Amino acid sequence: MRITFCTDLDKSVVVANCEKRGWIQVGPEDDWNIYWAGTQTCRSLFSVDSGYRMHDNQLINHFPNHYEISRKDLLVKNIKRYRRDLEKEGNVLAERGDSKYLHLDFIPVTFVLPADYNMFVEEYRKAPQSTWIMKPCGRSQGSGIFLINKLSKLKRWSREAKSPFQQQLTKESYVISKYIDNPLLIGGKKFDLRLYVLVTSFRPLKAYQFRLGFCRFCTVKYDSSVAELDNMYVHLTNVSVQKHGGEYNSLHGGKLSVQNLRLHLESTRGKQVTERLFDQISWLIIHSLKAVAPVIATDRHCFECYGYDIIIDNKLKPWLIEVNASPSLTSTTANDRILKHKLMDNIFSIVVPPSGLPDVRWNKIPSQEALGDFELLIDEDLIHLHETENNSYLLKNNRWK
Ligand SMILES: Nc1ncnc2c1ncn2[C@@H]1O[C@H](COP(=O)(O)OP(=O)(O)O)[C@@H](O)[C@H]1O
Ligand SMILES: [Mg+2]
Repeated sequence: MRITFCTDLDKSVVVANCEKRGWIQVGPEDDWNIYWAGTQTCRSLFSVDSGYRMHDNQLINHFPNHYEISRKDLLVKNIKRYRRDLEKEGNVLAERGDSKYLHLDFIPVTFVLPADYNMFVEEYRKAPQSTWIMKPCGRSQGSGIFLINKLSKLKRWSREAKSPFQQQLTKESYVISKYIDNPLLIGGKKFDLRLYVLVTSFRPLKAYQFRLGFCRFCTVKYDSSVAELDNMYVHLTNVSVQKHGGEYNSLHGGKLSVQNLRLHLESTRGKQVTERLFDQISWLIIHSLKAVAPVIATDRHCFECYGYDIIIDNKLKPWLIEVNASPSLTSTTANDRILKHKLMDNIFSIVVPPSGLPDVRWNKIPSQEALGDFELLIDEDLIHLHETENNSYLLKNNRWK
């Protein structure tokens, strides 16, 4: 059986994994079975103008409108809409207390600027001493991000960004989020979690979480004082930011595995709260996916591996920061290289049916062995979400083989 693959990334981890499976590399104009594409390529393949029609034996690694989850403003918009919808139907998940959502409060309070400026000011005035973080919607790797603790600074920014709020059409939009100023620290340093989540279908939702996530550390000790507000080495955990900091390499490339984080938390905070934290993380991932499921153009040729950015605060509450549709496949250490290799290998094992030939008519129910280091988060075909009293979800799977 001849299986072909095509990729626009020259990442060896992609090519090596495909070649190891005996797949043959071809160009985008040739007949390919699997395309590991950039998001732009995927979007243009699916655009009406391309005239491209995919066959049953073709798979591609993005959903055409993944930006519904990966753009910072759209993710927030979709989660807000999801909460409102659940509230309207009287779902207990949308319960509120103290005007806050009790269970669906997993993203920092966020507004889109300039559109929601007035709403932001209203919220800002409730707690004028708090810090906010400004992030351009369409950028990544920490680019364009800054912190503010005074409304005057935002006003100055809007003046300096030239066009006034009224003429926004050409101007870049931003999200402004409540800054999580009490992050959990290890060795005095802030970190965030990078977790990988594979989605093979949105309706019905089928998602898998990779066990081998890691923590990305800041190189400089955390300091919430105003004097350090502009020091991105203190506040942003992006590898692309931190690798310019001097100490980066001395800290295993700034990374710690999620398994080791778990052991550290079990010994410092206790087993039960640690378990609860990890349950809450899986829970928030499921709900972030459910929030976008109705708007993603679900196409049976597509699968996507998302890089989730999650911050844990010092009360062990996880916060969803953003979801990346093209998480970095670059490795900074040998362990990192092994991890990304496994990630890629496991993704292919899950998306390709047991016959070895991509086939969109397959029911997308991989065997337990095919999952490798992925764990089933949810498969609406297979499982019942079972809500327990402490609001964590357990997956009760009746038909699992
Ligand atoms: N609300 C927040 N509170 C605390 N830290 C944050 C917050 N939002 C972002 N950060 C920090 O900034 C980094 C970059 O933000 P992110 O939203 O992931 O944008 P980017 O696309 O640039 O990676 C995060 O990894 C995290 O360390
Ligand atoms: Mg990020």
